Amino acid sequence: MDSFSTLIRTASHEQHMEAETSTFMSDLLGGRLGVDAYARYTEQLWFVYEALETGAEKSAADPVAGPFIRPELFRLRALERDLAHLRGPEWRANLSAFPATQAYADRVRVCAESWPAGYIAHHYTRYLGDLSGGQIIRDKAEKTWGFEKKGDGVRFYVFEEISNPAAFKRSYRELLDAVDADDLEKQRIVAECKRAFALNTGVFRALGEEFPLSA
Ligand code: HEM
Repeated sequence: MDSFSTLIRTASHEQHMEAETSTFMSDLLGGRLGVDAYARYTEQLWFVYEALETGAEKSAADPVAGPFIRPELFRLRALERDLAHLRGPEWRANLSAFPATQAYADRVRVCAESWPAGYIAHHYTRYLGDLSGGQIIRDKAEKTWGFEKKGDGVRFYVFEEISNPAAFKRSYRELLDAVDADDLEKQRIVAECKRAFALNTGVFRALGEEFPLSA
């Protein structure tokens, strides 16, 4: 039987392609969007990571979710530095979430508070993605909008304390494989992961609507 890390990757493969090829992501990676769209996207991420990382303290003490909580992954401070750069020191004043973003953050919070295994699904979907495709987005953002390499504006994508992302991802997959859950609970985690991808797609859809390229 496949390991759990393989199972969760395979199960979300189709939705991963969907996210990658969403109009918003294609336009972003195609260099067709203005920096304002990128800033708006970064704002949405703030709400998601606020929910993920505010719950982290509680999750850290949990036997199931605890091993996943690694401070070197935390992104909220990096996002805040990026937003200060993108929107200015008053960035908080005009921060707003799309309804789709609110729904995503709310779901993360529910899991963080009441279902540690479900929280893992959200943790995996975000952080392993950021360590992977996030690097492609960073490279594109640096080139399209002229941010300093790994500097303000793209710090979200820079994991200063992870010197070897490939090794980190390997050890992360070992943690997934060691999750203490029966088959039914593992299926539920996979389903939550799919839900996490769908929630991301919802945010991309809202962004695509706010930043259409051609009417
Ligand atoms: C244009 C956008 C994206 C690109 C170019 C991209 C690209 C990639 C690549 C190349 C990998 C493989 C890394 C490896 O095998 O080690 C990967 C993995 C991953 N991506 Fe994405 N990605 C994108 C968007 C997303 C989004 C929106 C999510 C979810 C929020 C996501 C979640 C993941 C996850 C969870 C993995 C880890 C799969 C695993 O090994 O278990 N990605 N991505």
